[in-house]
Amino acid sequence: MQVQIRENISLKTYNTFGISAVAKYFASFSSAEELALILSQPLFKGLQPKLVLGGGSNILLTKNVDGLVLKNEINGINVINEDQENVFIKVGAGVNWHQFVLYCIEKGYAGVENLALIPGNVGASPMQNIGAYGVEVKDVFHSLEAYRINDNSIQTFSLSDCEFGYRESIFKNKHKEKYVILNVTYRLSKTPRFTTSYGAMAAELERMGVTELSVKRVAQAVINIRTQKLPDWKKLGNAGSFFKNPQVSNEQFQQLKVAFPNVVGFAQREGTKLAAGWLIEQCGWKGHRNGDAGCYEKQALVLVNYGGATGKEIFDLSEEIIKSVAEKFGVHLAREVNIV
Ligand code: EPU
Repeated sequence: MQVQIRENISLKTYNTFGISAVAKYFASFSSAEELALILSQPLFKGLQPKLVLGGGSNILLTKNVDGLVLKNEINGINVINEDQENVFIKVGAGVNWHQFVLYCIEKGYAGVENLALIPGNVGASPMQNIGAYGVEVKDVFHSLEAYRINDNSIQTFSLSDCEFGYRESIFKNKHKEKYVILNVTYRLSKTPRFTTSYGAMAAELERMGVTELSVKRVAQAVINIRTQKLPDWKKLGNAGSFFKNPQVSNEQFQQLKVAFPNVVGFAQREGTKLAAGWLIEQCGWKGHRNGDAGCYEKQALVLVNYGGATGKEIFDLSEEIIKSVAEKFGVHLAREVNIV
């Protein structure tokens, strides 16, 4: 077994924002053993930061990484168990998420069709509990294995261990930067229960003339909506929704509604989730451009890099947006993207 450690590597092609930052050290690993070997190098003892990269689709690099970047390339999609109702599939953290969705569609396994075309790798899916069109990864999550950096042990996390929330998990909070996710086991269903109540989804299925739902058709509807609304990072750098949709109390929502009758909100178990895209659009940011840093013209929640933007420029634009939304609506927007 051999691992290659490279120095002063440009990360431009390793992040979907297409930001030109440089990693002091860079190493890829395709197994837990290779990861252990890299981390055992005396050079890396105590070196900070150690940044794990998957698909690089949820980070904004605002500076060079003066430590070690670890690129997760653990592969493999394997059915490890099944019963009448479910199939349990163990997937390497380095597998591209959409490739895994395509595998499930091909096999007719249900549960991830609403999550088609989300950029990034499998390892990031539990990290931030990815979600779209009424489904979150926690709905199909069974367990994961993760490598603990400080003692080189491998631990298994169950659904409840992960403390999933809206774009949140224990790996973004208490265990931030302490673990490297190695693989994830999902529980897919042999008999689909579709979630198609999301407005845009119902409309697209109708436009497609779908009368009988299937895993493939639902995935196609999602793919159609996403390709219309969200920019392709290969053509225009971005990291999906830059901000989270903020949650406010029902009382605050009613007050907002008086002042702004068209405010868009979705009732939650407690409180109301506001459409951040609407708030940002109302502040005049949609389609706005500061040099090469911009707010996407078709979805104000997405910030984009027209080519030469620095991470700092995108960050500064996000600060301006947060400030103006707070001034106009009294609502604080939190970033969804990890800032490095
Ligand atoms: N809206 C506007 N202007 C905009 C954008 C949105 O007014 O520029 C309003 C519209 O009323 C629209 C509503 O906001 O009906 C919701 O918009 P959309 O359906 O596009 O969804 P979103 O709430 O903006 C969330 C997720 C997306 C996910 C979609 C679909 C977050 C932070 N984002 O966006 O996830 O694909 O719902 O479920 O929760 C991501 O996390 O990177 C991501 C793309």
